[in-house]
Amino acid sequence: MIKQQFDQVTDRKGSGSMKWSVEQNELPMWVADMDFRCCDAIINALRKRVEHGIFGYSDIDEEWEASICDWWHKRHNWMMKKEWLLFCNGVIPIISSAIRRLTSCGDRIVTMTPVYHIFFHSIEHNGRFVCENELIYRNHQYEIDFEHLEKQLSDPRTTMMILCNPHNPIGKIWQKEELIKIGALCAKYHVTVISDEIHCDLVNPKCEYVPFASASELNAEISITCVAPTKTFNIAGIHTAAAIVPNESLRCQMRHALNDDEVAEPNVFALPAAIAAFREGEPWLEALREYITENKQLVTEALQDEEDIHVIEQQATYLMWIDCSKYVQTVSSFVIFCAVKPV
Ligand SMILES: Cc1ncc(COP(=O)(O)O)c(C=O)c1O
Repeated sequence: MIKQQFDQVTDRKGSGSMKWSVEQNELPMWVADMDFRCCDAIINALRKRVEHGIFGYSDIDEEWEASICDWWHKRHNWMMKKEWLLFCNGVIPIISSAIRRLTSCGDRIVTMTPVYHIFFHSIEHNGRFVCENELIYRNHQYEIDFEHLEKQLSDPRTTMMILCNPHNPIGKIWQKEELIKIGALCAKYHVTVISDEIHCDLVNPKCEYVPFASASELNAEISITCVAPTKTFNIAGIHTAAAIVPNESLRCQMRHALNDDEVAEPNVFALPAAIAAFREGEPWLEALREYITENKQLVTEALQDEEDIHVIEQQATYLMWIDCSKYVQTVSSFVIFCAVKPV
């Protein structure tokens, strides 16, 4: 049973783990890095690569492209072309390169908040301004403020929008209609969309995510989608990701941007790990999704009698977003990780 493997506790201290370089009894809750050992298929692929014994420069191979195209077709009903794919060693490097190449200093970049805080770094450290489109929080649910979004997109200084789909940290999967509406507004005001879809495979069983670029032809034309097996299969340290860019002109610019930033070449383990994940990782992922759902259920049940604490209903990620605003004045909520063995 794969699921039982998730009960195994591995001591990561002393393994060079950034997450676990902490003081005794300190719980590192800030980084999305699971404590589960990754699936055997990936470990075997890496072992095979190590045993080859020669670790020269690597090239992109067709099997990497095919494994991504097949996975998105089978699991997410999106037929992409292999030519659309560009390798990159991380999702954040794609976002930062896109910002540098496709926008100018002083431009405004829209993102819906609360959101993964590193988006702020990528924008601000490159001399652009964050334009926060605050999600509307009503009855313990989040919705998009489209009216405000249109105002922000119509500002001539706004040149890019960074979308998180599914959205970290609130765990929401955006609906096809919402994605079409965002795409139409961005196209109307000539705003390029970067859709960060790194959490797309970590959705609850029976929930389906819609890739932004698959929602309409217009969405595909104006967007760069960022994907990776790293969150899903717990291999962030291997540094393997992809930009999916259907529009040829945008793709050409992104190819140059990633090359200029020296983030377009895979290390020797990046492709074998990704290929093994997408070709053989599905049973492991199904077991993981069930395990995480049960963990979320445990937390929800433990908190259900707490009148002033509300677990936000969510369909994706292994994070939980819990409203504790009655207790904490400055920060309205905090995150809990469900990708650990329950105690
Ligand atoms: C939404 C989101 N994007 C990107 C990343 C990091 O991606 P990478 O390590 O590939 O740069 C994370 C990590 O937590 C994330 O939550």
